[in-house]
Amino acid sequence: MLIAGNWKMYKGPVEAAAFCRALRELDFGGCDVVVCPPFVSLAAAVAALAGTEIAVAAQNVHWATEGAFTGEVSAPMLHELGVYGAIVGHSERRQLFGETDETVARRVRAALDHHLGVIACVGETDAEREAGETEAVLTRQVEAIAAAAPERDELVIAYEPVWAIGTGKTATPELAQEAHAWIKSLLPVPVLYGGSVKPENAAALAAQPDIDGALVGGASLELESFASLCREAAGA
Ligand code: PGA
Repeated sequence: MLIAGNWKMYKGPVEAAAFCRALRELDFGGCDVVVCPPFVSLAAAVAALAGTEIAVAAQNVHWATEGAFTGEVSAPMLHELGVYGAIVGHSERRQLFGETDETVARRVRAALDHHLGVIACVGETDAEREAGETEAVLTRQVEAIAAAAPERDELVIAYEPVWAIGTGKTATPELAQEAHAWIKSLLPVPVLYGGSVKPENAAALAAQPDIDGALVGGASLELESFASLCREAAGA
């Protein structure tokens, strides 16, 4: 069971270091744990978690090695920092910052080329689900990622229905299972569920056969909620 905490734009370096030092003391029930701080807090997190099993990942990565790309960070830079990998194609990137299937695919390719693990996000919007387009949307998104990643060892998909992110509206375990099974039929890699995962719903989601873990936003920002969510998921 892999549980990744996506901190989004929360926790600067000072807070990240203190939080990571506190994480070292907690019981995660045997889950594999990854934290994903903002770029500026990655070094502090890597230092505070050195020598532990808790991995650190970035929230994005650019496709070029270096160059005139103001505001971007490359895979070799992240690798040098000692991070394990990166989230790619989060729906907030797709919806607010113009990411497309093509740019997501290029980021996935670059990360894998530079030995970073990838958590690549897919998921339908409310309108797409209402219109009966969920499978078509997932197919388009997953196939773009699959084409960029012929070698699959370092690739994980996160299924995050956009209507469930930060809304408190979680997909039912059955609905999530259906989407996960569809994704795995297209690309057989581990699939995390994301979208309002909390300690209260983690066990039921993790009990589904094709749910291999969770990508957690809000509930990953508090020590106790994050640790208890992990223990719930592990106990399933
Ligand atoms: P949430 O975010 O858990 O706050 O819904 C999940 C995500 O965006 O990865």
